[in-house]
Amino acid sequence: MKEKILEMEKYAKDYNVPIIEKASISYIMQFIKENNIKNILEIGSAIGYSSILMASASEDVKVTTIERDQNRYMECLKNVKACELEKRINVVCQDALELNLADVSYDLIFIDAAKGQYTKFFEKYKHFLTDRGVIISDNIKFHGHVANKDKIASKNLKQLVGKLENYIEFLKNNEEFETTFLDVGDGLSVSVLKDGK
Ligand SMILES: C[S@@+](CC[C@H](N)C(=O)[O-])C[C@H]1O[C@@H](n2cnc3c(N)ncnc32)[C@H](O)[C@@H]1O
Repeated sequence: MKEKILEMEKYAKDYNVPIIEKASISYIMQFIKENNIKNILEIGSAIGYSSILMASASEDVKVTTIERDQNRYMECLKNVKACELEKRINVVCQDALELNLADVSYDLIFIDAAKGQYTKFFEKYKHFLTDRGVIISDNIKFHGHVANKDKIASKNLKQLVGKLENYIEFLKNNEEFETTFLDVGDGLSVSVLKDGK
């Protein structure tokens, strides 16, 4: 398993596949253990690195992970199988904004897909949370761009950063959820569904 993880890190580097930073996945694995998380939905599997690590946090964790890119999906399936986690990780190849999920509830939803769509993912999938469920989003700092938007030359990148800023505002003003922003890795937000919602 450890060897497979190292192999995946090398693959991600060699083929330019973005995967979660080590500090962030360590935080999430600890969070899973401490909060007795059992059922996880991940949006953005890439090659399965974070879903495999989340599933390995505890033996009773189940993960459904969604990836729209066919090649990454295939690579993800291969890696899940190599780690003998196919009974606990369900990989779905589809655009998360088009998918109709079965009526299942998740203790944790991990958003790590297209940065410009975070608010849409959040609004679509919050209905699938258990009571006091949590949504964690990665790349809230977006490699430092969010703090330095004025220095960005590219129009597209500036637009993307603008969308992430809007997402941060959306979380801050969201009365259904209590959000904490963590300076871990590339920045994580942890949004807990408040009581009685
Ligand atoms: C940052 S990578 C995910 C990394 C992975 N969570 C990890 O840490 O190992 C983001 C992935 O989300 C996928 N993605 C982007 N938008 C998506 C969408 N709307 N539906 C499904 N997958 C999407 C991309 O193809 C990409 O592989």
